[in-house]
Amino acid sequence: MEEKLLHIKNNALSMVLQAKNTKELDEVKLQLLGRSGSLTQAFKLIGKVPEEEKAEYGRLINETKQIVEDALQSAFDNFKKQKIKYQSSLDVTDPAILPPLGHLHPVTQAIEEITTIFERIGFTRVRYPEIDYDWYAFEALNFPENHPARDDWETFFIKEKPDLKKGPQVLIPHTSNGQIRELEKKEFPIKMLNIAKTYRRQDDISHVPMFHQFETLVIGKDISIVHLKGTLDYFAKSYFGPDRVTRIRPYHFQFTEPSFEVDITCDVCKGKGCKLCKEGWLELGGAGMVHPNVLRATGVDPDTYSGFASGFGVERVLMMKDGIKIDDVRIIYSPKLDFLEQF
Ligand code: PHE
Repeated sequence: MEEKLLHIKNNALSMVLQAKNTKELDEVKLQLLGRSGSLTQAFKLIGKVPEEEKAEYGRLINETKQIVEDALQSAFDNFKKQKIKYQSSLDVTDPAILPPLGHLHPVTQAIEEITTIFERIGFTRVRYPEIDYDWYAFEALNFPENHPARDDWETFFIKEKPDLKKGPQVLIPHTSNGQIRELEKKEFPIKMLNIAKTYRRQDDISHVPMFHQFETLVIGKDISIVHLKGTLDYFAKSYFGPDRVTRIRPYHFQFTEPSFEVDITCDVCKGKGCKLCKEGWLELGGAGMVHPNVLRATGVDPDTYSGFASGFGVERVLMMKDGIKIDDVRIIYSPKLDFLEQF
């Protein structure tokens, strides 16, 4: 018996040594330790060994198994080391390993696309403070003193001593402060595109406290609602697709007169009305002809100049464009890569 074990051991070790790669080594391992492997079989013989030799046989076969297992392990390790050595030598024909690439956030992508669309028809993108004085955010925009938007339930106020003329500072609740900042420069004609972060005290499944708006302001001589409607249609077709049209509906804003809410035809039913949109239209944002009081507040003569303004939400148009239906808008600003990587 002892001799037989010695034979199995020597045979096993020479098989291990002869294996040329890990694949052959796997094969050898199977032949030795697999279900019908020679070592496994030798274990089974223990039943046939006379009682008094059993303990010695058991010890020997365990020792043999250990030696063979160690030999296998070190052979596997050697192949692994060789592979690493081989890989670290430069092979210029190897395909390059590309580092994982990220991409811009979907909201940034939308901002870039919106900017390009408006630049094509002569608008200039501008940036104004996102922490601004009450004067720019409300007062010069014709908001009465007791307007609910000025309440700190709607707007974030900055704890700084208010400016004597311009009042307290706020996190801008809309991009319309850009209208006043732009008008004050008095460089006509104006074709402004103001995109900024905006803030409101709201945080639920359909609102985030920080979102983005894009605001247009066009001021010149003889600017009419026709220019406003044409610009809105141009934007809708460029951003959403050539078969989309807009409609304007009477509404009320303090700083425009007349004021409108802007709707766009639903992509699913093309304006006929369906389960998704009900009446065929989806709400895009606000617009209107700049109120004479706004022009006066900035020292611009309403008899000489007129114009229009519009203000839409970036996140809103982004989600409408891709038909993204998410049950919680806050996911846009969450670090959930499986959501963000789809864009
Ligand atoms: N500032 C308005 C809002 O946030 C939108 C708007 C902009 C309306 C310009 C008219 C003109 O709701």
